[in-house]
Amino acid sequence: MTTVRDLQAMAGEEPITMLTAYDAVMAGIAESAGIDVLLVGDSMGNAVLGHDDTLPVTVDETASHVGAVARGTDEALVVADMPFLSFGADEGQSVENCGRMLKEEGANAVKLESGPHTVELTEKLAHLGIPVMAHLGLTPQSVNQTGYTQQAGDREEAEEILELATAHEEAGAFALVLEHVPANLAAQVTDAIDIPTIGIGAGGECDGQVLVFTDVVGLAESSPPFAKQFGDAREEMRDAIGEYVEAVESGSFPGEEHASTNEELDDLY
Ligand code: KIV
Repeated sequence: MTTVRDLQAMAGEEPITMLTAYDAVMAGIAESAGIDVLLVGDSMGNAVLGHDDTLPVTVDETASHVGAVARGTDEALVVADMPFLSFGADEGQSVENCGRMLKEEGANAVKLESGPHTVELTEKLAHLGIPVMAHLGLTPQSVNQTGYTQQAGDREEAEEILELATAHEEAGAFALVLEHVPANLAAQVTDAIDIPTIGIGAGGECDGQVLVFTDVVGLAESSPPFAKQFGDAREEMRDAIGEYVEAVESGSFPGEEHASTNEELDDLY
């Protein structure tokens, strides 16, 4: 099993690969392809649950999907992405929600969309044995404040991200996701801190990369500009299902090899 220490040892030595997964099938496929970290992202909201954004995702939904991913993997580190308002308002509730992902569902760590309000919580969770992956830059749970545009548009915002990165490292975060920020900022953050940075839309100088499963395999109907589609699973799945429909409609499926008969059951009617 991959541990947070293993990931930290990889930083600067070999690129860390992280991909979202939302169920056991996705987890098994991603793990067999060599992914190091499976993030049960709240991107499940728009990627597979049919919502327009991540905000409606609940703690119960997250728990259910984390459990499925954890059951579908042996080696990868499983990170539970804590949904909107499940952390940060009340410390006790935050600890309970995060702890549930490890205690009941088999996650190895949690990810928090981070800001000044998560520094103390990160410290608390780390002390309790709940490894925390921080997340700065574009944090989609703040879509109503920031939209989905690239963050750190000026020096002040970039300095704030650098400061928050250091603050979360000092608080005990084991890794940091940097989303949709200029590549030169991500490179400087990566230099400034010792914990691994994992970029998405943040250039090639981070210690690792993360993308959303449905974007990578070509299942998403639309993807952000910084994502890359590496396959066309939607097309392949549609073709397979189309062939099945045609086979049923034409009577060529099921064939004799897909059924069996029991003579004792003849003449019932
Ligand atoms: O929810 C998610 O998938 C994420 C990644 C894009 C980092 O937070």
